[in-house]
Amino acid sequence: MATSNEIGLFEAIYTMRAIRDFKPDPVPDDLLRKVIEAAGQAPSGGNRQPWKFIVIRGQQGKDKVAELVRIGQDRRPAAGNRPTGTAAPVADFAGLLRAAPVLIIVCAIKPATEGPQTVGPFGQTFPAIQNLLLAARGLGLGGTITTSFREMEREFREYLRIPDNLTPTCLIPLGYPSGAGRNKHGRKSRLPVEEIAFEEKVGQRISF
Ligand SMILES: Cc1cc2nc3c(=O)[nH]c(=O)nc-3n(C[C@H](O)[C@H](O)[C@H](O)COP(=O)(O)O)c2cc1C
Repeated sequence: MATSNEIGLFEAIYTMRAIRDFKPDPVPDDLLRKVIEAAGQAPSGGNRQPWKFIVIRGQQGKDKVAELVRIGQDRRPAAGNRPTGTAAPVADFAGLLRAAPVLIIVCAIKPATEGPQTVGPFGQTFPAIQNLLLAARGLGLGGTITTSFREMEREFREYLRIPDNLTPTCLIPLGYPSGAGRNKHGRKSRLPVEEIAFEEKVGQRISF
């Protein structure tokens, strides 16, 4: 299954960065198919496979997505009025979406019933999204999870013909990393195990 130019699983995990700037090169069909297929290999409750992927490659579609996102950004409160903890928008997010070779909108399929044991649309789709991004990393591609498009959910539903039984969760721009600034895979900043894990009880230091 692995081809000689693919990287190992741990190398992919340790070097996958959020990529927000791309080379203009298109993503070959076979690689795009592979990343979506990898997404579909993710686990799900009852193996329901509650996801759909809307792939946008045409310039007209990307321009429309970018336009909707821009309208959403314009409607947002200015930085000073934003509630604490709300992330600032990427400088030119609409431009990024227009220029990305591929846009993928991930949707969760609503379960028949919802209760305390169900994890919501994000919980349902994130294993598949992580698979997709890791597979992309393994193939030399990159992308990032974005969620701000959801503030225009009604308009996206209409334009993409998303029915009521699907909930859009993430918009992933995908392509070959440009290499400019942080837009390359490589070392990243993460907390050490000792800061994210406890031994037996909260607050008790873990040792290996
Ligand atoms: C749930 C989630 C939501 C995210 N939303 C956005 C987003 O809206 N826009 C964006 O540019 N990056 C988004 N990211 C990417 C993170 O900002 C990025 O992974 C983080 O800053 C660390 O960067 P690194 O992975 O390159 O080290 C999101 C990541 C996750 C897991």
